[in-house]
Amino acid sequence: MAEFSATELSKPDLYKFMTRVVVPRPIAWVSSVGADGHYNLAPFSYFSLGGANPPSCVFCPTTGRDGSFKDTLRNIEATREYVINVVTYDLVERMNQTSYTYPHGVSEFSEVGFTAAPALTVKAPRVAESPIHMECRLFTVLKHGDGPLSSNYIVGEITHFHVDDALLTDGFPDNEKFELVGRLGGEWYSRNAPGNLFSVPRPTKP
Ligand SMILES: Cc1cc2nc3c(=O)[nH]c(=O)nc-3n(C[C@H](O)[C@H](O)[C@H](O)COP(=O)(O)O)c2cc1C
Repeated sequence: MAEFSATELSKPDLYKFMTRVVVPRPIAWVSSVGADGHYNLAPFSYFSLGGANPPSCVFCPTTGRDGSFKDTLRNIEATREYVINVVTYDLVERMNQTSYTYPHGVSEFSEVGFTAAPALTVKAPRVAESPIHMECRLFTVLKHGDGPLSSNYIVGEITHFHVDDALLTDGFPDNEKFELVGRLGGEWYSRNAPGNLFSVPRPTKP
């Protein structure tokens, strides 16, 4: 085996190792609203779930290479609310454009051409073009480290789900009916294509 000490790798190389090994990562496409009322939209693949009691999820805007905090983090710290939208394959190019660093106060909704739909339990908007939205309230921001590329984990509680009717089977989202994308290392993505899925039943004996 080739060996790499995490204490000796540079920060950019650590990023390369981590993002090529922990794959595919689902993408939280996060819409938020600033204290001044402007809308923001950006993708985050450092994203996962916690438990269902309460329904808990986490994503992580890192501190920028220049030490600045991303608009998503600033907005959520100010308003404590946001929406996580899913990214289907047909949206991937335009989702990617929303990762461009527009100046603070400039909305990716208008710049990239997405439709802001009102949410039910939070003030942040939903992305109408995405077929599934989860409204969330901030539980806590956990900062791990300091300075460029340090972590700002946003832990939230899901308060409401919106799902396109066409994606439901027996009242639940059906993974065979929609094609989410996953983030890999570099510029690579994976497709959660319905024809490429397989199931593995849980074990019933030792
Ligand atoms: C697919 C994808 C996933 C990304 N995941 C993350 C992430 O998990 N954490 C992060 O800090 N930036 C991530 N980025 C970069 C942010 O989207 C980018 O910095 C964006 O400008 C942040 O926007 P904001 O300042 O409006 O919050 C990702 C970009 C793309 C295209």
